[in-house]
Amino acid sequence: MNKVLILYDSATGNTATMAQHIAEGAGSIDGVEVRVRSVDEATADDVVWCDGLAVGSPTNMGVMSWKMKRFWDETMGPQWMKVDGKIACAFSSSGGWGGGSEIACLSLLTVLMNFGFLVFGVTDYVGKLTTLHYGAVTARQPRDAESQQACRKLGKRLAEWVAVYAGGRQDQHPLAKSDERLPPG
Ligand SMILES: Cc1cc2nc3c(=O)[nH]c(=O)nc-3n(C[C@H](O)[C@H](O)[C@H](O)COP(=O)(O)O)c2cc1C
Repeated sequence: MNKVLILYDSATGNTATMAQHIAEGAGSIDGVEVRVRSVDEATADDVVWCDGLAVGSPTNMGVMSWKMKRFWDETMGPQWMKVDGKIACAFSSSGGWGGGSEIACLSLLTVLMNFGFLVFGVTDYVGKLTTLHYGAVTARQPRDAESQQACRKLGKRLAEWVAVYAGGRQDQHPLAKSDERLPPG
């Protein structure tokens, strides 16, 4: 079994709901075990355990929340140089479109890169106007179908990359399943 961790912070439940959709997408790939942890309960062992992780935070002043930053500063700091090579991606809920959710994703990806994770974006569209090139983003709750689909796509792609690169399963490469992929337009 390959292992995927969904790690999130959420003050009012919006990013937590994204995490559930992401877990659902990750769980759609067979042979992948999925663990969901809030930043309040997660331990360094959860990160050490996984082959791939999705990290989510509410957009706070354009970047990740202080709790998520503290997790990487204090909980994961001692693990620096010990967790390189895991596959990782980001997601964020903001108060509104244009509120900085993609910048918040980049702040998460920056920290993950600092730890040596192999970070990725998703080229696919999940609707005519919705994509997740820098991670899944929503305004408040992921209520509409495309926002939910973006979250599921992120989780599925994470599990696919984990299956390919940690599990050696070339059949799970997204380009081998191109019939499932939606181009722009
Ligand atoms: C301290 C703080 C800073 C925030 N900064 C932003 C911001 O820069 N841009 C934005 O669109 N929303 C901002 N918000 C709103 C949250 O990102 C938004 O409500 C989000 O959906 C909360 O997610 P959660 O329910 O997972 O906590 C901020 C909220 C708080 C509490």
